[in-house]
Amino acid sequence: MGIDPLEYFETLWQDSVPKDGMEHTKEVWNNMAKYWFDFSQHKKEGKRDIVCAVVDFLKQKGALTEESKVIDIGCGPGEYASEMAKTAKEVVCSDISDIMIGFCKDSVTADNVSFICTDFFDIDIEKSGYKNGFDLVFTSLTPAVSGLDSVKRINEISCGYCFNQSFVYRQDNIKDGIDIHVRGVEPSTNVGNSSCYCMFNMLWNMGYHPEITYYTQFTNKEILVSADLAESYARSIIKMGDVDVKFIDDIHKYLKSIAKDGAVTVKNEAKLAWTLWHI
Ligand SMILES: C[S@@+](CC[C@H](N)C(=O)[O-])C[C@H]1O[C@@H](n2cnc3c(N)ncnc32)[C@H](O)[C@@H]1O
Repeated sequence: MGIDPLEYFETLWQDSVPKDGMEHTKEVWNNMAKYWFDFSQHKKEGKRDIVCAVVDFLKQKGALTEESKVIDIGCGPGEYASEMAKTAKEVVCSDISDIMIGFCKDSVTADNVSFICTDFFDIDIEKSGYKNGFDLVFTSLTPAVSGLDSVKRINEISCGYCFNQSFVYRQDNIKDGIDIHVRGVEPSTNVGNSSCYCMFNMLWNMGYHPEITYYTQFTNKEILVSADLAESYARSIIKMGDVDVKFIDDIHKYLKSIAKDGAVTVKNEAKLAWTLWHI
């Protein structure tokens, strides 16, 4: 008997997830909510560009129209939902964290938007009436998309399009310097896991024909060195949970050591993969 391709890509996906013991629970994401919200605000211009590019792409592909009933799984503070709601008939914002849903409610005020606080995996698809219930199932950078079960559930609740956005490459000169001079490790452009590659292959083996579009964002700007900037880098490296004060302090010292007139030049490249498929 040959290898089952779905099992193969599920194993590959799970093996590629960093073994840092991190669990994506409601509590963890409630703790992260404020930081993610502030971080989105801090990156406002860059994030806005990505949000508009994603929504334009969906409209151009016919995946988002005036007739669309959309669900955003792991919506976070709701920037995508808010933009999609300008076109869609209805948008459901769904997230595991009640604090994120709180931020989302504050910023997404359109009449055609509703909110649900739930773990994606806890949704009873039959009882909730979600089976084939959405013209577009939208997912972006969320741990709700974490393997074969997620992909199957996304397909089950869609009657039209499904979309996922994930990072596939990230390079940042300051982060590289921190890796070498503060952490003593080799810099890496690895973004953590092979979710995009595995998702594509799973879908292909299920008989769908997903397409992948890459969106690359370049940044080249002077940023004043501050404790906030140091913390922002510390958090982007540690990703979750509490960040050690000493680590932030070491990064701050390093930033000061390379600063010119109190500022550093940040040059980074981030590549996002947009996977779009039709049910
Ligand atoms: C990195 S944020 C991304 C937010 C937003 N989608 C974006 O791209 O800006 C990840 C979001 O996924 C949510 N999340 C994590 N696990 C989840 C799950 N199992 N079910 C639903 N939401 C989840 C988190 O609470 C958080 O709001």
